[in-house]
Amino acid sequence: MDVAVPDEPSAAELIAGRAGLRAHPMDGLLFDGVPLAGIAARHGTPCWVTSADTLRRRFRTLRAAMPGVTIHYAVKANDHLALLAVMAAEGAGADVVSGGELLRAVRSGVPGGSIVFSGVGKTRGELALALASGVAQINVESEEELLALSAVAQERGGTAQVALRVNPDVDAGTHGKISTGRAGDKFGIPLQDAAALYARASRMPGIRAIGLAVHIGSQIRAVAPFGAAYRAVADLVVGLRGQGLGVETVDCGGGLGIPYAGEPAILPHAWAASIQAALGGLDLHLAVEPGRWLVGPAGLLLASVIRTRRAGMARPIVILDAAMNDLARPALYDAWHGVVPVSAACLARTPELVDIAGPVCESSDVLARRRMLAPLPDDALVAILDAGAYGAVMSSSYNARPPAAQVLIDSHLPGGQALIRAPGTAAELWAAEILPARA
Ligand code: LLP
Repeated sequence: MDVAVPDEPSAAELIAGRAGLRAHPMDGLLFDGVPLAGIAARHGTPCWVTSADTLRRRFRTLRAAMPGVTIHYAVKANDHLALLAVMAAEGAGADVVSGGELLRAVRSGVPGGSIVFSGVGKTRGELALALASGVAQINVESEEELLALSAVAQERGGTAQVALRVNPDVDAGTHGKISTGRAGDKFGIPLQDAAALYARASRMPGIRAIGLAVHIGSQIRAVAPFGAAYRAVADLVVGLRGQGLGVETVDCGGGLGIPYAGEPAILPHAWAASIQAALGGLDLHLAVEPGRWLVGPAGLLLASVIRTRRAGMARPIVILDAAMNDLARPALYDAWHGVVPVSAACLARTPELVDIAGPVCESSDVLARRRMLAPLPDDALVAILDAGAYGAVMSSSYNARPPAAQVLIDSHLPGGQALIRAPGTAAELWAAEILPARA
């Protein structure tokens, strides 16, 4: 017989562990004071709900933990214009990895001079766009990219401010698919090659070498890998300066993890301390590129139960109207997201052990396995938690499923909330398809 997973946090614990969530005895689950049932009634499900209030709180917490360090929000985590505008208004810069993200950041009010351009495969067109936008810094990942950037900058008659992204060969201790700083990963310049390339960059036309960048992975929950990477970069800074080369800035990347299941995770001040311990004494301009920590807990995915399969099942399978095409993380990385009922009546019921799946025709379309969840009638609502980062941005239209609606909760808005993305339609999905004319 199936038994409960012992370490599984209960719905009450999941709610208690999140500052923005509260269970109201009548209105059910509230997100920053707004009843989620009301949002679902108005806009349907699946529906992404993001709280600008939580986002601002988190940004301010992070900023307070690292005075003097410039924060470039990693746009890839959630690139909705409304969120970017909130971040821009808070004074955050942006870390972008494509021409599209660059245009989104600029469109949302992030000044070019507050944008860092990262990424392993920037095209010449994207490099030219970055220079035209006056970005603060381009994080160059290879000798080949450096040569291409030098050529593009010279064609434009300008100079690119460059940081070399180094690969320190540090295992971040996270999921293999989101590790980026091991020697075999595709990112960054091997540490042993970095000094020679920096010296070359310093002499290259069209290039001004201003510093170094490092990013070893995402959802990092221990301080040791950060410390190892930053110490390696600090040694490199000292070595370069010893050769008479100028190093003004170090971009410490992102990667700060969040406790999806209540597991231990480090806090911003511990991350900040690891940066200061390694690099604080070197008279550098320091910057970070966090994504997940800022927006992950600021968003959730609302879904409805289509039906629960019980007949002939080892344990019930609750089938939701949200699926792997909406939230890809469980299928891609075996990620764990809390799932809690929304209605007060359901929150009060005794939970049973279930699997929670979507309707997509793939065995990997299971959003949560072996969870204690209250028995839910058809059409009951659930909230899939901590879905603000790498959620909506990674959605696809697989199985001809259009993009879900998105709602922003924001106490600065009249009414406290706004639809920020209408639910997509089937016709929108095929709008750009071309039926070839036949003779
Ligand atoms: N900087 C660079 C160069 C990055 O590649 C990333 C993330 C970040 C900053 C932001 O990292 P964060 O603070 O969000 O951990 N889709 C995966 C995560 C991929 C992260 C990619 N790079 C997931 O859902 O877990």
